[in-house]
Amino acid sequence: MTRHGVLPDHPIPDLAAYLEVGGGSGWTKAMRMQPQQVIDEVAASGLRGRGGAGFPTGTKWRSVVEAADSAPPLVCNAAEGEPGTYKDRAVMTRNPYQVLEGLLIAAHAVVADPVVIATKRRYNREAERLAAARSEMIAAGWTGAEKIALALGPDEYLFGEESALLEVVEGKLPMPRIIPPYMFGLAGTMQHPNPTIVNNVETLAHVTDILARGVGDFRSRGTQEAPGTMVFTVVGDVTSPGVYELDLGTSLATLLDIAGASDVQAIYSGVSNAVIRPELVDLPMDFDSFAEAGTGLGSGGFIVYDHSRCIIDVVASLSRFLAVESCAQCPPCKLHGVEMHERLASLCANGGSPNDVAELRRRCVAVTDGNRCYLPVGHALVVGSALDAFAGEFESALGAPHEHDNPVTIPKIDDLDDDTGAVSFDTAYTRKRLDWGYDSADG
Ligand SMILES: Cc1cc2nc3c(=O)[nH]c(=O)nc-3n(C[C@H](O)[C@H](O)[C@H](O)COP(=O)(O)O)c2cc1C
Ligand code: SF4
Repeated sequence: MTRHGVLPDHPIPDLAAYLEVGGGSGWTKAMRMQPQQVIDEVAASGLRGRGGAGFPTGTKWRSVVEAADSAPPLVCNAAEGEPGTYKDRAVMTRNPYQVLEGLLIAAHAVVADPVVIATKRRYNREAERLAAARSEMIAAGWTGAEKIALALGPDEYLFGEESALLEVVEGKLPMPRIIPPYMFGLAGTMQHPNPTIVNNVETLAHVTDILARGVGDFRSRGTQEAPGTMVFTVVGDVTSPGVYELDLGTSLATLLDIAGASDVQAIYSGVSNAVIRPELVDLPMDFDSFAEAGTGLGSGGFIVYDHSRCIIDVVASLSRFLAVESCAQCPPCKLHGVEMHERLASLCANGGSPNDVAELRRRCVAVTDGNRCYLPVGHALVVGSALDAFAGEFESALGAPHEHDNPVTIPKIDDLDDDTGAVSFDTAYTRKRLDWGYDSADG
């Protein structure tokens, strides 16, 4: 391959163009290696998952292979739904070949069966690019390409949660399970739990690069604990929103400069982490630095809010998203989540009362009771951190009805134009109800 990383500047039109820039060399190398050697190579690279948790990929593969009593299923998570994140769609559209090559390398490494890539039905363009790339690879004789199945699922946020992803692949609703995929996987039964590997799109694209260029080259970018590059998304109050591939460990300030942020009041990295105040912009963007600073890198999608925004309006919009998307299998998550949003909306509209703030704090604790998945933990962090970081703003809003000159919408990205950088959000989302149905557009 002639370039590092996973995000080419322009879409790769076809397999011939991919081969011209060195595509295929990672897969060719992997096919000459024993599966265990490929796992060792990926483990040595220090690659950490780009889907949100930053878990070491080699360790995941090794432990599932050890736990499985037959060929483990391998599922690529292409269900990207985190507000403020667009990187997987950008990678799939610009270079589906590198994602599928990574999936084939992973399938060889863990001797997988079946091999699935699961994305949203509404991501037509990405699904078409993947299907066309797969057909070209089959025609060109790439071993294993014919085994890749494409599964399409719904628009719900929880589709991206790994155990809910497996439910969708099995033809069910995106409801998280009690047991994680590495213990109880695709079509698992009590007798055959079928441990399954789930990897993010970008993670697998990096696997291709690691095999093609070698561990040393991969580790020459990023940091010791977080090697390589990552594709970051920036949206919100910036002049150049978009997706940018940078070395892990680059400062957040550098990314914000590139995206044209100024007058920053608050930043959220998706909806699963504590708010980032402007004082923290010098943080290096890597998993551990963000965790040590009390927040998280998530999937590298940053939502920037300037001082024209009411911070309570910001938090209310993120909280509404999480309350709506909760699946209600664990009642505290849905009930306290909805209550949190309603209290925030009331604070926003009419200033609420001091009791609302106290109640919000209590709900931040209760919302995670008996949680099956991480969604309500994110809800508590998003709201609780804002109550702490913006205590003065909440205090001064109390009891006073106020107008919002620049109201906030949830940054659920519908499209991000490669050429112009224009971002569009899903405007229908305001009509989504707590039961996942939609109110009609004409009221
Ligand atoms: C509510 C929720 C939504 C998630 N959405 C996504 C998603 O859209 N894409 C993704 O790759 N991971 C998502 N994740 C993380 C996955 O559960 C899982 O950690 C990831 O796919 C593992 O891949 P990786 O190890 O390559 O990062 C989500 C997690 C939660 C709790
Ligand atoms: S914690 Fe919330 S979103 Fe997760 S499974 Fe339970 S109810 Fe559903």
